[in-house]
Amino acid sequence: MPDLDRMGVTAEALAQMANTPDPRMREIMAAAIRHLHDFAREVDLKPDEWLAGIAFLTAVGQACTPFRQEFILLSDVLGLSRLVNVMHDAEGREAAGTETSLLGPFFREKAPEFQAGESIAATDKGGEEIILFGQVTDAEGKPLPGAEIDIWQVDATGLYDLQANDAEHMDMRGRFRTDAAGRFHMRTVKPMGYSIPMDGPVGQFVQRQNRHGMRPGHIHILVQAPGYRELVTALYMADDRNIDSDTVFGVSQSLVVMPEKGLPDAPRSDLPAIRYDFRLSRLAAGETGGRVGADPSQILPAAQ
Ligand code: BEZ
Ligand code: FE
Repeated sequence: MPDLDRMGVTAEALAQMANTPDPRMREIMAAAIRHLHDFAREVDLKPDEWLAGIAFLTAVGQACTPFRQEFILLSDVLGLSRLVNVMHDAEGREAAGTETSLLGPFFREKAPEFQAGESIAATDKGGEEIILFGQVTDAEGKPLPGAEIDIWQVDATGLYDLQANDAEHMDMRGRFRTDAAGRFHMRTVKPMGYSIPMDGPVGQFVQRQNRHGMRPGHIHILVQAPGYRELVTALYMADDRNIDSDTVFGVSQSLVVMPEKGLPDAPRSDLPAIRYDFRLSRLAAGETGGRVGADPSQILPAAQ
């Protein structure tokens, strides 16, 4: 009988898991146990603190619905989503593509399809109309015709359609395809900065840390083309006051933009425009791919 003292229990937990047939699961869970036990020893975790942690995670789970993914939000505010993205970006690519950013909790599959030049705003809620245009290429600059570009963002009131809790209601999101030269162009409104959802356990957690809970204004973008690594990214507005302190760590310098008039090649001269070219990396051999995030309704489907 091993001695299950403060170190012995770790060794015994690892030993009991050592026969996990899936090698990757065995590796991940062994590391998780080592770090979890080290963490508890380092802070000398007390029973009431451990229970508070269990209560917090329970509340995070209970806040999840087909419209809301509180666990992804938790991963985001902890910087874990950013970390997984950064490691994924760095992994096995033959040439650098566009930097990635967080998918966030408001992505929906099957957004409405639009023709080039159309606006993703279903209703006029105000805001400054802008154009987003550019080209999708491979990492060497070869144009990719027929690539799918999904974009989504808040409306002029600072809310995503999903926050209306109505799965049928889709607004400020859409899918476009690149033309024969890999070009695309669409209309939207300049996104304002907004607060992550603060009315749940993750919001309370952020408040207790004296953090502002804001994200700088941004447009989410997902680009897909067969044979290429899916690109999940976002473009951030340079003039947002929180551009340097995003609560969920999504901003990279290469993704900061500013709409302006008079850009060469802009499809319209009457509206401010953002030109951004997206570069996709080829899928590496054996690569698993995968997004850091999901449509919430794919994780917790609505009851039939
Ligand atoms: C968003 O960009 O929509 C978002 C990302 C992470 C957490 C909350 C919101
Ligand atoms: Fe967002």
